[in-house]
Amino acid sequence: MSHPFRERWNHNSHHYPRLRDAVPATARSHLDVGCGEGTLCRYVARPGVAVTGVDVDAEVLPRDDDGITYTVASAEDLPFDDGSFDAVTLVMVLHHVDARRGLTEAARVLAPGGLLQVLGTGRFRGLRDVPFEVRDVLTHQVMSRRTVPWEPPTTRLAPESSWDDARSAARDVLPGSTYRRLALWRYLVSWTKPAPA
Ligand SMILES: C[S@@+](CC[C@H](N)C(=O)[O-])C[C@H]1O[C@@H](n2cnc3c(N)ncnc32)[C@H](O)[C@@H]1O
Repeated sequence: MSHPFRERWNHNSHHYPRLRDAVPATARSHLDVGCGEGTLCRYVARPGVAVTGVDVDAEVLPRDDDGITYTVASAEDLPFDDGSFDAVTLVMVLHHVDARRGLTEAARVLAPGGLLQVLGTGRFRGLRDVPFEVRDVLTHQVMSRRTVPWEPPTTRLAPESSWDDARSAARDVLPGSTYRRLALWRYLVSWTKPAPA
């Protein structure tokens, strides 16, 4: 089966279809935090959806595009009002920042009923990671033979934090969120913001 990012494949773009497919069709605004050069912003853009990408690295941000606005800003201090977006994504940015602060900001700017998705990674922690490592290495071997590897010109950082750090930050800041280990050394936190009682 051909992957939508067959020509621009990496361990993040591999999961972009999953992230996009999870966003409700009713969403009218989408914020991608730590968007880098904007591939995910362009992928989630569609008529009637205002997409915003933010990154601290002004050098990497592209020019505004049809329906997409890019802004230099930090995940720890987002320059948006509470409840501004129907969907928020963070891909491989949480380990660059104070995780609890980044999650709190993402949750703040999310509208009630909106969906927050955080794709990230964690530091290898020994024996209990071995089954995941086996799956991740095998998936990498299979996928990298079928795709064209692509590395965007964004800043990357090896994670200092563990898988458990991200999981417990999500549990504390986003009660009711789900946490899953995905293939290719990634976790996914998903959270739908409750409507006020
Ligand atoms: C590994 S890249 C991921 C880029 C993109 N999300 C992707 O899917 O490929 C991490 C990005 O986080 C950005 N970043 C680092 N610290 C940040 C912060 N405090 N606020 C927003 N973005 C940040 C970096 O500039 C970089 O573009």
